[in-house]
Amino acid sequence: MYTRSSLKLIGFILVFMLFGCQSTQYPKDYEQLGEDERIVIRFSHVVGEDTPKGLAARKFAQLVKDRSNGYVEVQVFPNGFLYKDGEEMEALLQGDVQMIAPATSKVTELIPEWSVIDLPFAFNSYEEVHKYIASPVGKGLSSKFDNHGLLMLGMWDNGFKQISNRDHPILKPADLHNLKIRIMPSEILEKQFISLGAIPQKIDFNTVFTHLEKSDIDGQENTLSNITSKNLHYHQNYLTISDHGYLGYLLLMNKEFWDKLPQSIQILIKDTLKEVSEWEMEQAKKTNGEKLAELEDCQCIDIYRLSDEEKQAWEKDFKPIYDYFTVKYGEKYIKALPKYKE
Ligand code: LMR
Repeated sequence: MYTRSSLKLIGFILVFMLFGCQSTQYPKDYEQLGEDERIVIRFSHVVGEDTPKGLAARKFAQLVKDRSNGYVEVQVFPNGFLYKDGEEMEALLQGDVQMIAPATSKVTELIPEWSVIDLPFAFNSYEEVHKYIASPVGKGLSSKFDNHGLLMLGMWDNGFKQISNRDHPILKPADLHNLKIRIMPSEILEKQFISLGAIPQKIDFNTVFTHLEKSDIDGQENTLSNITSKNLHYHQNYLTISDHGYLGYLLLMNKEFWDKLPQSIQILIKDTLKEVSEWEMEQAKKTNGEKLAELEDCQCIDIYRLSDEEKQAWEKDFKPIYDYFTVKYGEKYIKALPKYKE
């Protein structure tokens, strides 16, 4: 016969076995948990998945997922599906997304000093840009995000911009006169075209194709990876390989979100981003080279390459823009550019 207290003991042992065993089988694969039990990083960007930024964002998401066994999920929203060009910065500041990677030109409304990167012919190579960003002046630019509740975790390349248009070949600056050209939102880019008599138009990246199709604008400037991924060349007859400006991305995270992450996860994200960034930079160089070869082969657009002498002539015409920038933001950003060093 069982006594009342021995029945209690048996009951206790059964309950312990049931729940005790369950807790040792707690899922190691975090994918079985809901969003509120995992760490979810929503990462919004505006380009296609098959571009250097799109591919790198996906690679980053996959590696973080694998390395955290699914505990950290980076949800990537490409093509401006979640937030458009003009909306993604606000969404990040509000914490509606946790991560974005806008072109440097697109942060100039928040931090205008970043428009030093937009100065025409400021850099001749990817390496020059990387050195500038790693310099004390570049570090100063990166830390400016702290005052806005953001953290800059690094940079990804796209490449150098080229100019296309429908009407005629652009060989010298005067050929841009009266052409309506799409630009990203940046005062320096605006001045770059106004100074040559062109009419710059700030237009959302994902609507440029439609604007070209409807002939609302005559041309645009962008990297070959961006031009071809959106088929912008379908509505353009002339392409000038000018390499006149660098287009790269700032990896930005909402700081409040970042500060709440466990230190081990911060380390995982930083290490993974470092690795993915090296891969992305190779990818960017490769893609822009391949796209040029494809455009040369397709014979679908007339391609003209500016010579070094021609580039120097263009550069001279842009001197007033450098003066404008210096008056507005001081000498230090310009003085630290590679062409003014030594
Ligand atoms: C553009 O608007 O042309 C680019 O910033 C798009 C991008 O993110 O590369």
